[in-house]
Amino acid sequence: MSFRALVLTLFPEMFPGPLGQSLAGRALARGDWSLDAIDIRGFATDKHRSVDDTPFGGGPGMVMRPDVVDAAVAEALARGPDLPLIVFTPRGKLLTQKRVRALAEGPGAILLCGRYEGIDERVIAHRRMEELSIGDYVLSGGEPAAMVLLDAAVRLLPGVMGAAESGIEESFASGLLEYPHYTRPAVWQERAVPEVLAGGNHAAIAAWRRAEAERITRDRRPDLWTAYRALAEAAPTA
Ligand code: ADE
Repeated sequence: MSFRALVLTLFPEMFPGPLGQSLAGRALARGDWSLDAIDIRGFATDKHRSVDDTPFGGGPGMVMRPDVVDAAVAEALARGPDLPLIVFTPRGKLLTQKRVRALAEGPGAILLCGRYEGIDERVIAHRRMEELSIGDYVLSGGEPAAMVLLDAAVRLLPGVMGAAESGIEESFASGLLEYPHYTRPAVWQERAVPEVLAGGNHAAIAAWRRAEAERITRDRRPDLWTAYRALAEAAPTA
């Protein structure tokens, strides 16, 4: 059974978009995962096919109607009753590699992409949706967030990534950001590749990479560094 993505959106033509290219695109063509974009507007009931309305309480923008969104969700759940239901919003819980990994190990997901000022709160509560954000900035809609989640999940599916270890050593899996990479030429723009990397001493290379990963994490992400240090103290051999 392959990973199944059902995307609820007002812009189904945005998909597969970038997910049709490169690693994710090849995996899609192979059938390692499937992607269906469902047009929310198809569930509008009035003659204007309206999907949004003005907010109660006033204020700018429009809010997506609960009845229309709910009908779209019902269709997705009929197609994939076992799939977790996720809605993208900047006030959701931050998407992490841990959540991505758990989703990639599961049957897939229903991904609801919001537009306008938001989605009526009642349908989010009624359907017990998991609210996710991809970062502390505001997108014009959830579609790029759905693409981010799917890109991150699909590369973890069995057989999708090339080198077996490329999934293990990378950023976040270890709790550290990645060490720097170099290839030929050995000197470029008067910058030489670090000597240890050309030396063939594998233990020295591993130690250098570890030290660089720690330095970069400490400098750039004090939050990750603190968590990493706490883990290292709890289990010093890990
Ligand atoms: N919709 C708008 N902004 C978003 C964000 N940062 N993450 C997820 N969905 C969003």
